[in-house]
Amino acid sequence: MRHLAIIVPASLLLAGCDRQPDVTFADASITLPDDPLSLPDLPGRDAVIANCTACHSPSTMLQQPKVPAAKWESIIGKMVEVYKAPIDQAAVPEIVQYMVAAQAAEAEAEASTKPVNVRRDTSAKPGTAGV
Ligand code: HEC
Repeated sequence: MRHLAIIVPASLLLAGCDRQPDVTFADASITLPDDPLSLPDLPGRDAVIANCTACHSPSTMLQQPKVPAAKWESIIGKMVEVYKAPIDQAAVPEIVQYMVAAQAAEAEAEASTKPVNVRRDTSAKPGTAGV
């Protein structure tokens, strides 16, 4: 039985040597569409890059309904449980904080490029308008 373990891989190796490759590879490149959004420079950005951008463009993460921190926690939990994302649990609070702040910054930037009155901020409390 000891022989078999050595002979099988060796014969596979030899078979591989005298064969011409069946396929040839040419250089190829793809051009991804430009993402209209980039991750704003806010605290926690590095944690998001380390844990999220392998699977998502900034747009995918930021162009979501604006949700509170608790909802972000559950979204990140879903990434781990459902999609098996290897997310550093110690970084989760930082990521949550970043997503909330980044969405707020994104909403602000969007509002400032649109004519006034198109978007109504219903979250403003009386007396705080314009502050
Ligand atoms: C292993 C890959 C992977 C990683 C890493 C990952 N996600 Fe996801 N994420 C997914 C998949 C798959 C979906 C579902 C996409 C779809 O439905 O089209 C998704 C969906 C989402 C959505 C859309 C809303 C929702 O609930 O489905 C958001 C927001 C999101 N991810 C945020 C994040 C954030 C923030 C991180 C980092 C903490 C992260 N993801 C890390 C795979 C990943």
